[in-house]
Order: sequence, then C-alpha cells, then structure tokens
Amino acid sequence: MAHPSDADVPMGAVGVVIVAAGSGSRLGAAVPKAFVLVGGRPLLWYAVRSALACHPAALVVAAPPTHVADAATVVDALGRQAGIPVRVVAGGAERGDSVLAGTDALPAECEVVLVHDAARAFAPPDVFERVATAVTTDTAAIVPVLPVVDTMKVVDDQGFVVGTADRESLRIVQTPQGFRREVLLEAHRRHGSVATDDAALVELLGRRVGTVAGDPAALKVTTPDDLAHAERLVAHVEHR
Ligand code: CTP
Ligand code: MG
Repeated sequence: MAHPSDADVPMGAVGVVIVAAGSGSRLGAAVPKAFVLVGGRPLLWYAVRSALACHPAALVVAAPPTHVADAATVVDALGRQAGIPVRVVAGGAERGDSVLAGTDALPAECEVVLVHDAARAFAPPDVFERVATAVTTDTAAIVPVLPVVDTMKVVDDQGFVVGTADRESLRIVQTPQGFRREVLLEAHRRHGSVATDDAALVELLGRRVGTVAGDPAALKVTTPDDLAHAERLVAHVEHR
C-alpha cells in the first residue's frame, strides 16, 4: 500500500503523446497500422478522439515519417473541435524514439505526460482520467491494469510446465501510461535501449509505479483477429 507523503501531491498540466509510428508488421495491412480503417475511420482517429475527451493541455501524435501529413489530415479537425492544440511529429525507428520525439514536442507546461499506443485506439476517456489523476510527485508513474483471469503457467524452453504463477499478484498492463515528464525522460535516457513498456524503464530507476483500473476495450490491435474484434466493438459502441 502506498503511504502518501508530504511530497505526494497532484501534478500540473497534462500532455498526451500518441505513438503511431509503427508499421504494423504483424497486422500485415497495406498501410501503417494507425491508418487501418475500423468502422470507416483510422485507428488513429479513435485514439485521438478518446484522449481529447479528457481535456489535456496539448496532444502530440508521433507518426511514421512518411505519413506526417496524412496523420495531420486525420486529427486536425478533432483538435480544432476540442479547442486543444494537436501536433504531429515524425516518430522514430523504435517505439522509445517515438515516445521521446512526441514528448519533446509537448509544451513545457505539461508536467504530466500520458503515453498511449495508437494501436489501443479504443481505450475509453475515463482510463485517461484515472491515469492522469493518479500521477503525483511521489508516484511518478501510473499504469492501467486488468486482473488475470486465466491460470498462468511458467514453462521451460521445451514447453514443459515448471510451475504455476500466483495469479493474484499478476496484472495485464495497458496504455495510456502516465508519468511525471522529467521521470519519463530520465528513464528513457538511462534505460531506453531495453524498452518493453515505458513504466518498465521507470522501474529500472528504482521508482514506484502505481496502478489504476484499465479497461477491456483498451485491447491492443496487433493481429488480423484483433482487428475483427475491434470492428465488432465499434459496431456495438458507435451504433448504440
Ligand atoms: N510505435 C511507434 N514507433 C515505432 C514502433 C511502434 O510509434 N518505431 C507505436 C505503434 O505505432 C503502436 C505502439 O507503438 O501504436 C505499439 O507498438 P506495436 O503494437 O508493436 O505496433 P507496430 O510496431 O506498428 O506493430 P508490429 O510490431 O506488428 O510491427
Ligand atoms: Mg512493434
């Protein structure tokens, strides 16, 4: 259990970085994954709409260098309608490079940075809210999580079971993940090359990472099966 200290106070303005610069090799579409259509709209459009719904001070999209103008076409109207500055920058070769490029482009006032995968396009606005509110000076990193419902086995390299994991202590981790900006930058500076997720880099700094409830809708679109699932989700939500 976290013990709030004197330093454990809420932070200032929130900026969102949406990393959308990946190619989507496992999905295998003709366009980068963020531009794949679901319910007639690119995944990136849903991700940005959801993030803007919780009124960040600014939002930056890290797009494939070849698709910066296309990304701006997708998101400009959403930013204007929300009255929130939305910028598109070129992402990098690795996801961590895209996180840094996006964070660099946020205004200095953004002390809290929410890093979100465009591939998790259907993360609802209340997840952004929960994550942003939970970032404090002391708990400098927050991840949204889901409980593990299946039994988890540990196996050796030949596939034989060597143990059963304690499910109670396991969580599935999603994005958006929230950070004090300076802690996110330090984590990437010191440990960026081993990036699995951004919070893992903060763990390597020896800093506390907190959790809030995630949402099953924040599934990551990785494979064609996930895309089919996303189509069903959109048909259900948008036409209610
Ligand atoms: N990403 C990024 N820059 C990269 C690599 C990934 O901005 N150089 C983003 C992706 O666009 C995605 C998120 O990081 O929104 C999570 O990555 P992943 O789901 O692995 O997407 P891809 O790398 O595009 O897919 P794949 O690994 O199948 O190629
Ligand atoms: Mg990838």
